[in-house]
Amino acid sequence: MKVTVVGAGAVGASCAEYIAMKNFASEVVLLDIKEGVAEGKAMDLMQTASLNAFDTRISGSTNDYSKTADSHVAVITSGIPRKPGMTREELIGINAGIVKEVASNLIKHSPEVIIIVVSNPMDTMAYLVHKTTDLPKNRIIGMGGALDSARFKFRLAEALECPISDVDGMVLGGHSDTGMIPLTRLATRNSVPVSKFIKEDRLEQVMEDTKVGGATLTKLLGTSAWYAPGAAVSGLVQAIACDQKKMFPCSVMLEGEYGLSDISIGVPVILGKNGIEEIVEIDLTDAEKSKMKESAEAVKKTNDLLEL
Ligand code: 2OP
Repeated sequence: MKVTVVGAGAVGASCAEYIAMKNFASEVVLLDIKEGVAEGKAMDLMQTASLNAFDTRISGSTNDYSKTADSHVAVITSGIPRKPGMTREELIGINAGIVKEVASNLIKHSPEVIIIVVSNPMDTMAYLVHKTTDLPKNRIIGMGGALDSARFKFRLAEALECPISDVDGMVLGGHSDTGMIPLTRLATRNSVPVSKFIKEDRLEQVMEDTKVGGATLTKLLGTSAWYAPGAAVSGLVQAIACDQKKMFPCSVMLEGEYGLSDISIGVPVILGKNGIEEIVEIDLTDAEKSKMKESAEAVKKTNDLLEL
């Protein structure tokens, strides 16, 4: 099973590293436009193979898409990351052109590919790939909810003062500081609703901290985060490669589900060898439904900025 990761920046390199560490792919091709960077990072990662006990072959290429031919899954991380104080939406001008070109180059060499979009503003970039390629909707997946849910679980465990393996929770909606919807109502500690342990105001704080999870890190790091994004992508790639039929919230094209259409936004899906095997519709409360509507309106506003 061959995986391509386009963009050998911090997020792309972390994706390649976590995919290799999980040892399920035969090959990872890392591609970047900067001369030598993908080759260098691939070689550096390969020199960890004997230390970290993986057999995945990682190779790098400076913009030669023929090296990506016949990839089962391709991850797009290309474009610029946000700087402190910036929103993900502000990146649209530069990243839209890049993502469009990358997707078309990938499909030329791997017509059967499943594309995972990571570049920001992610929901809009996933929508762009839907609108500018002929790929069926099950083969275009935006990575946001898996990462946001991991950040939610981190904040829940912090509030509960418990191990993260004790908690479960999911974030729906747009991958933006205001659009995320951490589903506190359904979050649990070993099947017990977290509201049993955490007071309302603390739970509100968990929600807010989750929503600005990326921005908090951007402020600390001076650029956007890479470990959790890379790990989240590797989970999606593994679910597809190993046909796990695992559930993640992902940004997917909706055609009436959740009362929304012509939009790619975060909802729970089952991932397997065909990419999106199923969109899972869960019952939301009226308050959650109206948050979803608001989140979708904001994503649509950003989508309107695309020159399609
Ligand atoms: C983040 O939230 C990369 O958008 C990504 O860190």
